Amino acid sequence: MQQLTVELGERSYPIYIGVGLLSQAQLLTRHVRAGQVLVVSNETIAPLYLEPVLAACAHLQVDSCILPDGEKYKNLEVLNRIFDTLLERRHNRSTTLVALGGGVVGDMTGFAAASYQRGVDFIQLPTTLLAQVDSSVGGKTAVNHPRGKNMIGAFYQPRCVIADIDTLSTLPEREYAAGIAEVIKYGLIADSEFFDWLERHLEALQSRDGEVLATAIARSCDNKARVVSRDEREGGLRAILNLGHTFGHAIETWQGYGDWLHGEAVAAGMVIAAELSRQLGWLDPAVVNRLVEMLQLLALPTAPPPAMSADRFIELMAVDKKVLDGKQRLVLLQALGQACVTDEPTMAQITAAIESSRRYTG
Ligand code: NAD
Ligand code: GLY
Repeated sequence: MQQLTVELGERSYPIYIGVGLLSQAQLLTRHVRAGQVLVVSNETIAPLYLEPVLAACAHLQVDSCILPDGEKYKNLEVLNRIFDTLLERRHNRSTTLVALGGGVVGDMTGFAAASYQRGVDFIQLPTTLLAQVDSSVGGKTAVNHPRGKNMIGAFYQPRCVIADIDTLSTLPEREYAAGIAEVIKYGLIADSEFFDWLERHLEALQSRDGEVLATAIARSCDNKARVVSRDEREGGLRAILNLGHTFGHAIETWQGYGDWLHGEAVAAGMVIAAELSRQLGWLDPAVVNRLVEMLQLLALPTAPPPAMSADRFIELMAVDKKVLDGKQRLVLLQALGQACVTDEPTMAQITAAIESSRRYTG
């Protein structure tokens, strides 16, 4: 098992990465401060992994709340079911919420923990690759609003993250590949050595080789933890973690959540961001091609949806949280492994990059 720490002073917490971790009861319960636990999961994950988690907490009052599965249920109405269960089962302020699932369950459980009785503990047990390398770490919690993704939420850190790599064996291929998009993101924004390593190990990673997977998850979490430690509430630096996300969120909103996966939208978004960086003369064109080749090998989208116009992108991007004083802030690449946040590109340049990215179809 590997252990990393997200350094946030008295709110620092460990990330455990390894195999067979869900059946190590102690790992979970040592982070439960009192006698009540609510495990939140969904109807797909619960039949696979709920049992060992309930067993680990059998000496406590342990309840579960099983949500419907899907991004379309990541909303206030469904969130309320968590509060209903907490209140029905009389959970008090010392309860611990446990998020067993992917990013949707993790984000919703985290937000429920942030707001139930003004804040209770929570633990992340991520079961998708995306959640293990990104969403479970760093304390962003939220639900969607019909007008925008993750618009209602809070920064709220978990007590620990337990990433059991074994859970990834049941993850559908498409979900798994979408998670690799976020892994590649770390190489692009902050770790060119990791990008090179990923290129060399992409096929092993794609075939879920245990050792390669553990290295990729740990290196991703390490990169994320370092950024979060320096800028927890996204005053500046943390925004680099959103490479491709402003374009990606526009794609997701345009589709009404649920056609392309989040990681797929981010993959196409990263290509547009890299293409814009290239057009500005910042990024070596070879890097854009290397990125496109890696994503194509994974059968991930590398171009915007054909029916989505550049105007629609611009319109939807304007409601993203990255708009400040009317200027479109974007994460771009000054070089491989070196991201920056800028409002320099004009709308015409953004439009041109969206249009020219259309040629990278797989
Ligand atoms: P998800 O939570 O919808 O999970 C994907 C699918 O896989 C679901 O159908 C789920 O039930 C299923 N699943 C999960 N684990 C499984 C397993 N082990 N075996 C079989 N099936 C399994 O999607 P996701 O990609 O994990 O997360 C996407 C969400 O994360 C989005 O809502 C996004 O906004 C959010 N996100 C948050 C952050 C953050 O910092 N908080 C970062 C990135 C993404
Ligand atoms: N996924 C972006 C962040 O955590 O800031």
